[in-house]
Amino acid sequence: MGCCETSSAGDITDITPEQWAKADEIIARYKGQRGVLIPCLHEIQQVVGYLPLEVQERVAAGLDIPVADVYSVITFYALFTTKPKGKHKVGVCLGTACYVRGGEKILDKVEHALGIKAGDTTPDRLFSIQVMRCIGACGLGPVMTVDDDIYARIKPERVPEVLKKYS
Ligand code: FES
Repeated sequence: MGCCETSSAGDITDITPEQWAKADEIIARYKGQRGVLIPCLHEIQQVVGYLPLEVQERVAAGLDIPVADVYSVITFYALFTTKPKGKHKVGVCLGTACYVRGGEKILDKVEHALGIKAGDTTPDRLFSIQVMRCIGACGLGPVMTVDDDIYARIKPERVPEVLKKYS
């Protein structure tokens, strides 16, 4: 399978030949061993960034297991994602303390500003949004993060200016 083939969903993945080569190396290393699906997928996700259908098929063929088994492991563990992540990961905390201080309004504003919903990635792959459940900064809520940066007591009207810094 080549790097530019399409998935059944019709999306063209952007996995590079180098990433495919590394994924194949990882699969080859685990081939023939039992109980290796999770570590194998984890390593591949670290290289590729996500686990689309093409990758699932490659892993299934390489480890000689059904694609359905690969898919069910990926959907069961929150660690795995089938969608590409953005260059910048925007997190909005909806833990109790942040929620009561308006975390939901922050999430609305982020979704509106980026034109995507939580869990999704912008078409240009610059941002993805994730909802968080308490990052241990409750006294500073509502809290928003972009990558490793934390924005405390963030107000909805400040969201666009924060996002702009990463554009
Ligand atoms: S609830 Fe948001 S940091 Fe704890």
